[in-house]
Amino acid sequence: MLTGILQVDPTEALREKIDSSRLPRHIAIIMDGNGRWAKKHGKARVFGHRHGVSAVRETTEAAAELGVEYLTLYAFSTENWNRPAFEVNALMTLLVDTLGKEIQTLNKNNIRLKAIGNLSKLPSRTYSALMKGIEQTKNNDRMTLVLALNYSAKWEIVNAAKNLATQVAEEKINPEDIQESHFVNELNTAGIPDPELLVRTSGENRLSNFLLWQLAYAEFYFTDTLWPDFRKANLFQAIIDFQNRERRFGKTSEQITSA
Ligand code: IPE
Ligand code: IPE
Ligand code: MG
Repeated sequence: MLTGILQVDPTEALREKIDSSRLPRHIAIIMDGNGRWAKKHGKARVFGHRHGVSAVRETTEAAAELGVEYLTLYAFSTENWNRPAFEVNALMTLLVDTLGKEIQTLNKNNIRLKAIGNLSKLPSRTYSALMKGIEQTKNNDRMTLVLALNYSAKWEIVNAAKNLATQVAEEKINPEDIQESHFVNELNTAGIPDPELLVRTSGENRLSNFLLWQLAYAEFYFTDTLWPDFRKANLFQAIIDFQNRERRFGKTSEQITSA
């Protein structure tokens, strides 16, 4: 009995290793490996996407509990339209169902929903569910959950360039006065700090057109875990890894340690 009581929960043991004063303010995640997870279980790809929802729930809850301010999840890339229509439709329906079910949980946990990407090109049912979720959670202030949907970093950057070009044409700004901050204000992520930590699951080591501008100085954490298997402990491990790195921002190690 006594040993049972004294046994440490491995997830809690990891949580205790995290220095809460040095948390990344913003974590971005490329949720990958749903298809391979389904295959491993002898099921159709869509089964993997459905199981990915529990990983989303756990990760969101864990990030909010820790005090992370922003969590961005890559849910659907512009390139994902190239998948079989059946899978695309299943993903869009899953989004509508999940948003419908989870808004209450977001409100209970005081989490605000936002979205980035070319949202107007989403199917109308998905778009409406998303807008409803954003509207119903807009006053929450514990954490912001950002869904990247029909997202392409190159599209976002071109869009920002177009907006600035329009401002120049309308003589609202001189080209020589354009600063980094003007560009940042035209990105979908305007007002959101850049992610300090990027996580990608399923063993793939690439960005797949995700947040190319915003990840300029992020720490990258790659894990072989497939997204549907991702749990609180996996997020904690990523944060521990992040906290053990030395972020130099171009300086020398000596400059950092003597500061
Ligand atoms: C990630 O899992 C989910 C989306 C891209 C929507 P995948 O569906 O890419 O899974 P794999 O990479 O085929 O295993
Ligand atoms: C990236 O995953 C997009 C999302 C996670 C939504 P993919 O599985 O689509 O990426 P690639 O095609 O393998 O690079
Ligand atoms: Mg994939």
